[in-house]
Amino acid sequence: MVRETRMDKSSLIYPIFVKDGKNIKEEIPSMEGQFRYSVDQLPYALEEIAEAGVSSVMLFGIPEHKDEMGSQAYAEDGIVQRALREAKKQVPDLYYITDVCMCEYTSHGHCGVLCGHEVENDATLELLSKTALSHVQAGADMVAPSDMMDGRVGAIRRTLDASGYKETPIMSYAVKYASAFYGPFRDAAGSAPSFGDRKSYQMDYHNRREAMKEALTDVEEGADILMVKPALSYLDLVSEISKATCVPIAAYSVSGEYAMVKAASKMGWIEEDKIICEMAVGTYRAGAGIYLTYFAKELARFMEEGRIG
Ligand code: PBG
Repeated sequence: MVRETRMDKSSLIYPIFVKDGKNIKEEIPSMEGQFRYSVDQLPYALEEIAEAGVSSVMLFGIPEHKDEMGSQAYAEDGIVQRALREAKKQVPDLYYITDVCMCEYTSHGHCGVLCGHEVENDATLELLSKTALSHVQAGADMVAPSDMMDGRVGAIRRTLDASGYKETPIMSYAVKYASAFYGPFRDAAGSAPSFGDRKSYQMDYHNRREAMKEALTDVEEGADILMVKPALSYLDLVSEISKATCVPIAAYSVSGEYAMVKAASKMGWIEEDKIICEMAVGTYRAGAGIYLTYFAKELARFMEEGRIG
C-alpha cells in the first residue's frame, strides 16, 4: 500500500538485433542469452517477447555490407526495413521502435559521415532523416535517433512531418554518454569505430549540466521522449531531467550492464534475479517511466509475479 515506486510491464522495451542472412540465431558471446537473428528467425523471437508480456521492442540492424556513407541504413531493402515489414506482418501487436544511427552501417564505424577524420554533423543530418523516414515507411511505430549529432531531432521531425508522418513519435537518445558500457553492444553489432572514439559527439561523463542542455534542446526540437543512457551510473541525470522537463523519461540499461550481471551470476557471485529487480526499481525510482533492458522478459515475469512493481 505504501510502496512509492510502481511499475508496469507496458513500460519495458526489449532491444533486439537483426542481421542479414538466412536461418541465423547466433548467441552474442559477450551477451549470453541475447542473439542475432536473421529476418526469417526474428518472428519466433518476437512471439516469445510478446508472450512474456513485453509489448515494445527496439530494433538494431547488422548489415552484410558497410560503406563510407552507411547506405544500408536508409536503403529501402536494408536489414531493418525488411525486418520491420516481416515483423509487422507476423507479429503485428508489438510496438516497433527503431534505433536510428549510422555506426552499424559505416565502414569506419562512426555515427555519421566523415570529412577527413571528423564526423560531419550537418551532412549526417540528411542521412539520418532519410534513415528515419525509411524506417517509418517500412512500419516503425517510433524512431529513436542515437547518433548524438546536433540538430538531428529537428531534422527528423521536419522530414517525417513533410512526408505525412506527423503522428510518429521520436524518442531521442538525448543524454548519451561516451561510455565503456557499450563494449558488448559493439561486439554484437560490429560497430566499434575503426579509429578514434565517439567523444566528439557523445558526452563526457564528467558533465551534468551539459546533459540538461542536450535534453532541453531535444525537447525544443520536438522529442516526445527523452532517453538517458547508460542507466546504472547515470541515475542522477534520470532524476534531474525528469524534474526539469515534462516529457516521459526513458533509461537504457545497456549491454555492459547486462554483461556484468550475467558474468557475475555465472560465477555464482551474485543472485541474478534479485540484482535485475534492484537495478530496475532503482531506475524507475530515480524518475524513469520507460526502461530499455535486455532483461525485459525476466522483468515482465517478475512484475507479473508481484516480486516488484
Ligand atoms: C548506436 C547505439 C549504441 C548503443 C545503442 N545505439 C552503441 C554506441 O553508441 O556505441 C549501445 C547499446 C548497448 O550498449 O546496449 N549508436
